[in-house]
Amino acid sequence: MKLRAKWLQRLAGHAGRVGLLLLAGGAVVLLWQPTEAAWWAARLLGVAALLLISGTLFLRPAYGQRPWHRLFGWAALAALGGHVVVTTGFQPVFWRWLTPAMPLEIVAGIIALLAFLMVLLVQRSRTLRRRLGPFSSLSVHRTAGYLLIAAACTHITLVAGMAFSAAVGFLSGLAFLLVEGLLRERHVVRLAATLALFISAIAWLAIGSMAETRLAGLRQAPIDHARFLHTDHTGLACAGCHHNFVDRTGTENCLSCHKRLSVSEASRIDSMFHAFCSECHRADNRAGRKFGPIDDCNGCHGG
Ligand code: HEC
Ligand code: HEC
Ligand code: HEC
Ligand code: HEC
Repeated sequence: MKLRAKWLQRLAGHAGRVGLLLLAGGAVVLLWQPTEAAWWAARLLGVAALLLISGTLFLRPAYGQRPWHRLFGWAALAALGGHVVVTTGFQPVFWRWLTPAMPLEIVAGIIALLAFLMVLLVQRSRTLRRRLGPFSSLSVHRTAGYLLIAAACTHITLVAGMAFSAAVGFLSGLAFLLVEGLLRERHVVRLAATLALFISAIAWLAIGSMAETRLAGLRQAPIDHARFLHTDHTGLACAGCHHNFVDRTGTENCLSCHKRLSVSEASRIDSMFHAFCSECHRADNRAGRKFGPIDDCNGCHGG
């Protein structure tokens, strides 16, 4: 791409490198969090896919150079494929999420997959490229690439919600990479509009009446009663979990009361209970005590 000025080029390069470093830092923090064996593969493959995709930004193809850009792209696709197969194949509960009430991290993950398809399609399909024209096809390829990075970072940040510093690393890394894109990109408006569309779509699904409509299905589904036994949890203070014993909000079951509360993304029953149950198990694991399932869906959802 032709650049408007030398100093802009230099600025874009610096911003991009800082962004990549921050992403790598976020990945290190994320990989530091304890989890089960099955999730290690999923995490490593997912993080590898994101770093490889971001790496392609620095290996822009030029005439007569080695095809690193393309090699990184294919390697990222392989890692992403592995990530999807490991998460959905070994954790069948995952499929229960694929309803309109799916969590936002899954929405972001699916958008990332679609953006990757777009990147590939524009690159591979001659007819499509001819139809888009030589310059606009390249710009669509690159815009989809930045959308892919933005969606993947959103996905990981939401999944890594418990690791605050990892989330900060991914979001600030993303911000620097997008600054790089906006400084370098010729079709700035198209890139900015695509990113704005992505953010508004996520916000639209997350808050207000749309969230309420989306989550109605989850609220009305019968209570699942994930595997929870008091005999696994002896010696803990009742009130540590039964906040309702203390604030006297009621004597009913946790889940039936919380199902009613699930009207927004922030109060949805699955994310609230996943955080509640897994945080304690994770802390026990860190402290070297006996612990329950952390991220392994099967550990709590039968199977
Ligand atoms: C680790 C958290 C935790 C601790 C500690 C705990 N509970 Fe529970 N308790 C739960 C959960 C979660 C449920 C709901 C399980 C379900 O419905 O599948 C529950 C359900 C119950 C129920 C059944 C409510 C109903 O209507 O279904 C009673 C009664 C109860 N607990 C009493 C106690 C008492 C008494 C103690 C202290 C000795 C205690 N619990 C300690 C988490 C806990
Ligand atoms: C009668 C209703 C009711 C019952 C029963 C109940 N809760 Fe709650 N719970 C609430 C309400 C209301 C809140 C506050 C929600 C908010 O802040 O958005 C809450 C908050 C929580 C939170 C904090 C969420 C956060 O973001 O900090 C956790 C965790 C939680 N409940 C777990 C449980 C568990 C575990 C049980 C059973 C052992 C239980 N609740 C029983 C109504 C209930
Ligand atoms: C306050 C800490 C704490 C909370 C909260 C907690 N757990 Fe546990 N959980 C433990 C500990 C400690 C063990 C290990 C007990 C043992 O092995 O003796 C355990 C074990 C388990 C096991 C047994 C694993 C196995 O291999 O047998 C399951 C299942 C489980 N927890 C589910 C849950 C669910 C579901 C919730 C949320 C409703 C929850 N736990 C909340 C501390 C907690
Ligand atoms: C530490 C235990 C634990 C782990 C691990 C866990 N869950 Fe859950 N999950 C729960 C609890 C507790 C609830 C609250 C309602 C219930 O009991 O079904 C829940 C609720 C859900 C719900 C909503 C059920 C409904 O209809 O209300 C879905 C879907 C779900 N989990 C999927 C998953 C997936 C996918 C994974 C793996 C990525 C997973 N869970 C890992 C404990 C767990």
